[in-house]
Formats: sequence, C-alpha cells, structure tokens
Amino acid sequence: MKQLIDQIQAHLAEVEAFQSNDPTEIENFRIKFLGKKGILTGLFASFKEVPNDQKKAFGQQLNALKIAATNKLEESKKSSGAKSSNPPSTIDFSRPGQPIDVGSLHPISILRNQVIDIFSQLGFSLSSGPEIEDDWHNFTALNLPEHHPARDMQDTFFVQTNPDMLLRTHTSSVQVRHMEANSPPIRTLSPGRVFRNEDISARSHCVFHQVEGLYIDKNVSFADLKQTLLYFTKSLFGKSKIRLRPSYFPFTEPSAEVDIYWGLETEADYRITKGTGWLEIMGCGMVDPNVLTNCKIDPKIYSGYAFGMGLERMAMLLYGIEDIRMFYENDIRFLQQFSAMG
Ligand code: PHE
Repeated sequence: MKQLIDQIQAHLAEVEAFQSNDPTEIENFRIKFLGKKGILTGLFASFKEVPNDQKKAFGQQLNALKIAATNKLEESKKSSGAKSSNPPSTIDFSRPGQPIDVGSLHPISILRNQVIDIFSQLGFSLSSGPEIEDDWHNFTALNLPEHHPARDMQDTFFVQTNPDMLLRTHTSSVQVRHMEANSPPIRTLSPGRVFRNEDISARSHCVFHQVEGLYIDKNVSFADLKQTLLYFTKSLFGKSKIRLRPSYFPFTEPSAEVDIYWGLETEADYRITKGTGWLEIMGCGMVDPNVLTNCKIDPKIYSGYAFGMGLERMAMLLYGIEDIRMFYENDIRFLQQFSAMG
C-alpha cells in the first residue's frame, strides 16, 4: 500500500512538473496519464487490491492525481493554442428563451366571426359560393335584368374573355344559389369577399367583405326583420336604437337602409356621423316576389327578408380605423394591435 501511495506521489510530481507547448508532447502526456491504458486506469484497477480501511486514503490520492493531470492537460492545451477538448460552456441555460411570435386573426376575420356568432344564435347557418360568378346569380335572378339601370349601382369587373362571367359585386349571389338548392324554411348567412370597380381611397376599395343574410318561411314579416336587426345591433355594438330609412334595392320590396344611433360623444370632429348621431350600417328589405319565383320558391306561400352589410365599414367604426386601405396592406404594426382579440 505504501508503495502505491509513493507511486502516486511520484506521478503527481511528474504531472506538476510537466510543461510544454508542443501538441505532440501534450498528446503523449494525455496518453501516458489519462489514456485508456494509461497510469490512472492502471491505478484505478489496483483499487480493489487495497485493504478496505485504506481505500479512502488511496481514493483521495488517486483523485487528486486525476484532477491534477486533467487540469495540467487543459492548461497545456490552452497555452499551446489547441482547441480545448472540453471548452467551458458559454451558453447560459438559465436565460429565458426567445419568444415565438404567434400569428393572430385579421381584424376583418375577428369581426366576421362575431357577426356569425350572433346570427348563429338565431339559427342562421352559413353558406358560401364562388367569387367569380355568372350574370344570372349576381344580377338577373336578383331582379336585375340586362340593361336594368340599377346595374350601374355596382360597378362591375367583368371577365374579359367571357362577358357572362364577373367578379361578384355582392354575396346576394350566394343566396340565389342557396335558394335554388334548398327549400324553405331557409335561414342562411353568407359572408364573403366582393369586388367593385371603384377608385381606391381612404373610404372605399375595389375589394371588401360582406355578410348577407336571408330568411324565408311562411308569414315572415318586416317586423321580424326589424327585430332581428335590433338584436344584432345590440349584440355587436351595444346600441339599442336603430331606424329604418326607406331605400331602393332591385331584389327587395320594400327596401330600407339601417341606421344605428351612435350618439355624439365620439363626434369631436364631426367625422363619424357628420353631427347627426346616426350612422348607416346596412341595407335590407323583404325579398321581392320576382326573386323568389326566379329561385323556384312560390311567393304565394313564402315570404322572406334579406340584409347585407360591409365588414370594413363596421370594423373602421368599431376599432377607430381611419383608412380602409390598412386592411389590405398587411403592415405587421397594424395587425399586431388586434392580437389580443383573436
Ligand atoms: N346586396 C346589397 C349590396 O350589396 C345589400 C343588400 C342585401 C340589400 C340584401 C338589401 C338586401 O349593397
């Protein structure tokens, strides 16, 4: 045992005395002391021959030698410029990670979902149709035959190679499709993108989003329409005063424009309601019997109402957005402001 301890002491002295910048010498040092068949491996192997009561002292000596050899090796490697086999970690594992940016819903989608939620509580289902539409579904079936002056109300993008095809100017086209494919009672909501050949400005765009609704059953009256709209404006805007102004749409008779009473509190610069307190939010009316006939529904048995609103207009109002173009620019600074809502 004494012999072994002496050996260790001698090795320790050798380790401490070792000094070299030469990579080969350093590698030889490593092999000699720390290699697989090196001195330390040999000494650890003789550990089992050491009497139990001396194992502790021996182990301590052996460990001291191992640490000294390892340190010397690292030091020598460092001073020789060689890359350390076990570089001290420069990574701080306790640092908080980089947050992953999560996308969020577009303000138009947020509002569309709110509108859908409100009407689905009233039993409306969803319907959709093509954005490239034919003349029948966008115009003719809706009581807008060719050369009807009201076609000019909606400046249309036509498909150049096929004058019968166009980009739908409203989602009323979806309602025609829905009536053709289903029989009453019908309660359907058609949200979607629509297109009009209009100059782009802060207030109008050539593409925007609508939600239109249609309700057809026996004995549906204008009072049902009014009650539904009141429920909607209360739910979405928290406003319970509305008025229906007589208006004209070819596909409804009578027709009306819906205004909500917004109030004058937010009217500092008279921009929102022009000082009147009233704000127009949608068009509506009782479905014209001609439209029902066009869609194979008997107007002697059934009646119905329809309404349509533009989502951009309402989103501008609700979120205080001054320029409609912001919805299509995808500026992340604009979109991020809605991340908490959807
Ligand atoms: N389709 C009309 C528009 O786009 C809106 C509307 C729908 C009006 C239903 C009345 C009834 O302007």
